[in-house]
Amino acid sequence: MSEVKRGVVRFSVSLPPGLVKEFDNIWTSIGYENRSKAIHDAMRTFISEFKWTQMETERVAGAVLILYYLDKPGLLEKIVEIQHKFKDIISSTTHIHLEEDKCLEIIAVNGKVSEIKSLAEKLMAKKGVKQVKVAVIAP
Ligand code: NI
Repeated sequence: MSEVKRGVVRFSVSLPPGLVKEFDNIWTSIGYENRSKAIHDAMRTFISEFKWTQMETERVAGAVLILYYLDKPGLLEKIVEIQHKFKDIISSTTHIHLEEDKCLEIIAVNGKVSEIKSLAEKLMAKKGVKQVKVAVIAP
């Protein structure tokens, strides 16, 4: 149930107390004035986190983060090969040597959602790739 008044919607939600406590601790420590503003921003973040995945033909810009270990033979070559196939949407790649055998790459992307998803999925599917994260913004 929700109630619309002067441009705002009021609604009640049921949440586990622990989650609410943690949420309240965070927004108060950041300096938010009230919970409504914090929830407003959290909803905006949630929307921007997932909305782009449904806009297959739209263009977005952002980064694909990939974490991998060098213990799999040929992995580096495969990662480079995948990136070459997507050169039209990749602006640049930054390689960070985290540890002796652990690397992080930040792949800057600018292109169609379907292409960025495809790049992320291809990277994810490679053995030795530990984590892939996509962060994009619809301009
Ligand atoms: Ni490295």
